[in-house]
Amino acid sequence: MKNRVEVLHGVNFDVLGRRDPEQYGGISLPELEVQIKGYAHDLDLGVTFFQSNSEGEFVEYLHRLPELADAAIINAGAWTHYSYAIRDALEIAGVPVVEVHLSDVSSREEWRRHSVFDGLVVGVVSGKGAEGYREGLEMIKKALESE
Ligand code: DQA
Repeated sequence: MKNRVEVLHGVNFDVLGRRDPEQYGGISLPELEVQIKGYAHDLDLGVTFFQSNSEGEFVEYLHRLPELADAAIINAGAWTHYSYAIRDALEIAGVPVVEVHLSDVSSREEWRRHSVFDGLVVGVVSGKGAEGYREGLEMIKKALESE
C-alpha cells in the first residue's frame, strides 16, 4: 500500500513562530509538525518532513522525492508565487502533490494570488491554518487510493 507522504516547507518556515500571528496563527514549525503527525496517524498515512530556506537545496530534495515518498504536501511559502525552478522540479518528481497555505492567499496582496503550481497539483487548501493540512492529507489519501 502506498502511504508515505513527504510534507515540504519552504522559505521562512523555520521561523514560523515569529511570523505574523494574524496570518499564521503564532504556531512554530515543530508544533505544526506534531499536529500534522496526528492527522496522518488518523488517516493511516506515514509522514516525514523537510524544510529549507535554500531554493537549490529544495530543488535537489525534490529530485530525490520519488525515492522517499509516494506523495507530497507542499507549502513553499513565497516561492509559491515565483519559483518556476521549484515548479519544474515538482513536475519531474511526478508524485501526487497537494498545495497548502496556512493563510488565505486569495484575500491578501495581489502577488500572492498567483501560484506557479497551478495545473500541477491535485488540490489546493488555503486559509484554514493547521487544519488545512488534515484536508490536504485527505486529498492525498484519495489520490493514492485511485492510483
Ligand atoms: C504561505 C503564504 C505565502 O504567500 C507566504 O509567502 C508564506 C506562507 C501560507 O502558508 O499562508 O510564506 O504559504
